[in-house]
Amino acid sequence: MVLLALGLAAPTVARAQALQPRKSPVLLLPVLTLVTALTSCNQCGMTGGSMMNDQTVFATNGETIFRTGKNLKGVVLQDLDRSEMKMAHSCAMCHGANGAGGMMMMMRTVPSIRFKDLSDPAKHSVPYNEDLIKRFLDEELKSDGSVAVTGVAWKMSEKDKDDLIDFLKTL
Ligand code: HEC
Repeated sequence: MVLLALGLAAPTVARAQALQPRKSPVLLLPVLTLVTALTSCNQCGMTGGSMMNDQTVFATNGETIFRTGKNLKGVVLQDLDRSEMKMAHSCAMCHGANGAGGMMMMMRTVPSIRFKDLSDPAKHSVPYNEDLIKRFLDEELKSDGSVAVTGVAWKMSEKDKDDLIDFLKTL
């Protein structure tokens, strides 16, 4: 994992150097420190809770999607054409670092998307299962068939959806 993270972090250093033609050691040092901090902290997750995370790689593809809005290949999974909000988001930005929701947004409280809450018959008249979560991600329909108002739409492969749902089960 750390090797993979280092592999992905290396181009960042290369880019930073490219931006700084006169390879200044003064600039390189903080960049290297940052890279070290990021790669040695794979499991830290977010400290603040709701901001987009600069870290690009987490332990699994599902967690990476949840926390960054991109998959492990770096593909942005938000369908920006279909989204009212044109800035790329992660699930964690709106639903929180632990998926439990609770913030106010679009005049409503953002719901929990932890699988155990989504699938709880006490919380949803039609409990979510994997297929209903996939339908939500494809068509912005809630489990009872009503239209969700989130401002964001997604375009994910079946594998990305499966990996993301597997991660929601760990929350
Ligand atoms: C821009 C903020 C935002 C982002 C980003 C976002 N959501 Fe949401 N999400 C919401 C809001 C607001 C609702 C409630 C919508 C409603 O009730 O109409 C919601 C609802 C949901 C629901 C339905 C929950 C229920 O109670 O029926 C699921 C499932 C869900 N989001 C999953 C995700 C996943 C997975 C991601 C990341 C791929 C994500 N969301 C990213 C704001 C967001």
